[in-house]
Amino acid sequence: MQPARVAVIGLGRMAGTIDDEVVGYPAITLPYSIAGACAASARLELAAGCDLLPEKRDAFGRRWGVAALYDDWRRMLAAEQPDIVAICTRADNHAELAVGAAELGARAIYCEKAIACSMIEADAVLQAVASRSLPFNTGCLRRHDNRYEQLRDLVTEGAVGRPQAAVHYAPSSLMHGHIHSIDTLLYLLGDPKVARVRGELRPRDLDLTSNRLDADPSAVYELETDTGVYATTVAAGSWEFEVIGSEGSVRTYANGAEAGRRRSVPAGERFTTTVAAPLEPLVPASATLRLMEDLANALAEGRPSREGVERAHHATEACLAVAESHRRGGEWVELPLGNRELYVWHV
Ligand SMILES: NC(=O)c1ccc[n+]([C@@H]2O[C@H](COP(=O)([O-])OP(=O)(O)OC[C@H]3O[C@@H](n4cnc5c(N)ncnc54)[C@H](O)[C@@H]3O)[C@@H](O)[C@H]2O)c1
Repeated sequence: MQPARVAVIGLGRMAGTIDDEVVGYPAITLPYSIAGACAASARLELAAGCDLLPEKRDAFGRRWGVAALYDDWRRMLAAEQPDIVAICTRADNHAELAVGAAELGARAIYCEKAIACSMIEADAVLQAVASRSLPFNTGCLRRHDNRYEQLRDLVTEGAVGRPQAAVHYAPSSLMHGHIHSIDTLLYLLGDPKVARVRGELRPRDLDLTSNRLDADPSAVYELETDTGVYATTVAAGSWEFEVIGSEGSVRTYANGAEAGRRRSVPAGERFTTTVAAPLEPLVPASATLRLMEDLANALAEGRPSREGVERAHHATEACLAVAESHRRGGEWVELPLGNRELYVWHV
């Protein structure tokens, strides 16, 4: 099978250098960058790259052996006709580039998270990508990590009984960070829809009357899914997740480097308690490699990708609903979000 040809827009950290930052960090399984994933896979060929800055183009070309380098992404897509376009710029142009790539004939898209800074932008991405049925994955990497997949499979197969609550632990920014936390909570629960959200931004008196924030604030939230599960974030800890069910729980530790499971057992005549239950050992695999190969395989097999633009759009909507709740003094906000102009900048 021919490898899928990948063209990257934005030749910075996520495109090609972020692997250097996480050497020796067990939460991340290398390769982490898009270029690193292409180099490690027979299913992917790194065909071209584009950046506005000549020094970024030179460094990327030298490190990854790419000769087809451009300063204009439209020119690159027209000349290279790639199978997969990987959008690795910062968020203020994700939506413009995703819509443009779809309109210029991309067959599949990787877009860094979050896909947009407002729901108007996110709606445009959804329309452009869904109307063409393009395989689409984002940088919400945990849903492509086999350690999280193992826990999700346990939850969806009923190993914790009926899921009742899900918790994320870490202080985090709203759009850069909580797009990950909300996406991962939903993933672990089997991808229910968010029914309603409430939250607050920090500092608590942050003014959002202009409906626009040109910074990404810290945030906390609570949400309810359409399956009746309560989920929340605790602004402490190191990016850990927990799903608590009627008959047990699963829990990650140390940003996913470790995990555990507990199950309920009877304890005497009156009580139940929980005991540790072993997890099948597994070899961690690179989430970036898996998600990029998923795009290539989705193309080859004519099937949807693992994440899809609808899930990326929905997680973005839930994040922006947290800001809308703050704007309304902490009220519960039902989805779909009415205020589609609300804009929150992020990297
Ligand atoms: N999923 C993850 O784990 C993860 C990790 C790191 C970063 N990210 C995300 O990746 C994105 C990029 O972050 P980064 O730290 O790699 O950024 P970066 O600043 O290192 O790189 C972005 C590059 O995009 C280029 N660029 C901007 N507009 C362009 C355009 N129109 N055409 C061509 N090039 C353009 C810039 O010149 C820059 O070199 C962000 O959205 C960030 O949130 C995700």
